Amino acid sequence: MMVKPSCASLSIQGIDPARLPRHVAIIMDGNGRWAQGRGFERIYGHRRGKDSVKAIVEMSREIGIQYLSLYAFSEENWGRPAAEVKALMRLLKRYLTTELDRMMKNDVRLLVIGNVKKLPADVQKALKVSVETTRRNKGLTVTLALSYSAREEIAAAVRTIAKQVERGELVPEEISEATIAQSLGTAGIPDPDLLIRTSGEVRLSNFLLWQVAYTEIYITETLWPDFREAEFLEALRQFQARERRFGRVVDGRADQARLRAAN
Ligand code: FPP
Repeated sequence: MMVKPSCASLSIQGIDPARLPRHVAIIMDGNGRWAQGRGFERIYGHRRGKDSVKAIVEMSREIGIQYLSLYAFSEENWGRPAAEVKALMRLLKRYLTTELDRMMKNDVRLLVIGNVKKLPADVQKALKVSVETTRRNKGLTVTLALSYSAREEIAAAVRTIAKQVERGELVPEEISEATIAQSLGTAGIPDPDLLIRTSGEVRLSNFLLWQVAYTEIYITETLWPDFREAEFLEALRQFQARERRFGRVVDGRADQARLRAAN
């Protein structure tokens, strides 16, 4: 059995605790294939995927990652068979209710982005309770993207800004990148440093399109239900092996640290 890495043992695993990504975003993909490949219903893969969510949240908290964003249900996912959607919603509600105590114990704050109003009333209620109860927690912020579409998030931001202009609160010349960032669902959350996508697909699938402008992307063939501590450590190792330049020229580690601080 694998020993969970404490901060101290991270260095033994080849990871520098001082250079962890502040924000990790994950496109959790491959639940259906994982289940079908084993002769099970797709929903069984989602259930196992929920266990991966628990493991990665716990590990992120333990090693000191500050923000974890999970693509749990896209706007496009509404197009799946009704039974699968229903089962996913049930799973989500169960996750929220059974994990609340652990979130409080582990100082985890929960946030949601996406068109939450489209979710079933009982799921909305469970989300509201979890977000409200955990709002003062400071250890790790977990953002669930639900009924989420990055293009729709950007369109909503444009509508918000247009209304501010209409009311005379803003002149168009004042609209900056910061104005847009502050009008997105992710306002106040730093951009992801690392985006992980499981199951080998090489696309962004309408996830955090504005926010990932300078994010490092890690793609693994591993299907989400199999993505556990060892895989996460590998993603962190590869992240740290890369040189982030943010479009500039970097001359050594001191410059790298300065760029990280500025971004
Ligand atoms: C992608 O796999 C995954 C999803 C659409 C849903 C993600 C849901 C979970 C991980 C479980 C519950 C979530 C939480 C937050 C408790 P897929 O079905 O698209 O897989 P496929 O590409 O193999 O068909």
